[in-house]
Amino acid sequence: MTVLQVLKRRRSIQRFENEGLLLTREMIEEMIGDACLAPSDFNLQPWRFVVVRDRERKEILYDCAYKQEKVRTASAVVIVCGDAFADRRAEAEAAEAVKAGALDEMEAARMVEAIHRSFEGNDVARFAMAVRDPAFAAMALMLLATERGIGTTPIGRFDDKALRRAFSIPDRYFPVLLVALGLPALDAPVPPRGRRMPPSDVVFHEGMGGAEP
Ligand SMILES: Cc1cc2nc3c(=O)[nH]c(=O)nc-3n(C[C@H](O)[C@H](O)[C@H](O)COP(=O)(O)O)c2cc1C
Repeated sequence: MTVLQVLKRRRSIQRFENEGLLLTREMIEEMIGDACLAPSDFNLQPWRFVVVRDRERKEILYDCAYKQEKVRTASAVVIVCGDAFADRRAEAEAAEAVKAGALDEMEAARMVEAIHRSFEGNDVARFAMAVRDPAFAAMALMLLATERGIGTTPIGRFDDKALRRAFSIPDRYFPVLLVALGLPALDAPVPPRGRRMPPSDVVFHEGMGGAEP
């Protein structure tokens, strides 16, 4: 399948066959591993993934997600989290890059300095780090699943506090999105896709012009 074909095939599944697919830990880990080929600022890889397959754990997640039925009927749900303090790994990441031959010592030192300059005392940059890269990884995961014939739904409506508590997510991590994975309900045709605004409404060339529509 081409990238365009996968993009066209991906839809947010509203109803899953109840635990209709057997998704093993290994299958999910492999897809997540591939999804982590997504781009990452300074290659800090601030994404973390909590895989929920157990029925009782899904039931708890269902409560956290305001009882959205798809959470309990999905075969697995991945809680995609972002690390707002991934810059703490700057030195370690730079050393890895030197070891891999991707950077020399001088470049690595410059990278470490740039990382600290970008994030220290900058909460907006921290928040962006915790959301952007994990969102790319979540999209990659959905596309990889789609390519394998697995239905997906991104889920952003959940109780952040309850989720953190129930799944022991430390403060430095930000739960970005749930990605439900499963078999789309066999008796429910996927509804037509909602209209996307055309390029003429969303694309601006060389600047936005300042005027709000
Ligand atoms: C950030 C984000 C949060 C979303 N949260 C939910 C959600 O909580 N529940 C849900 O059923 N769908 C959710 N969706 C799916 C959207 O409703 C869906 O992407 C949109 O209707 C377009 O449909 P499509 O994905 O099939 O093209 C979310 C999508 C995004 C990008």
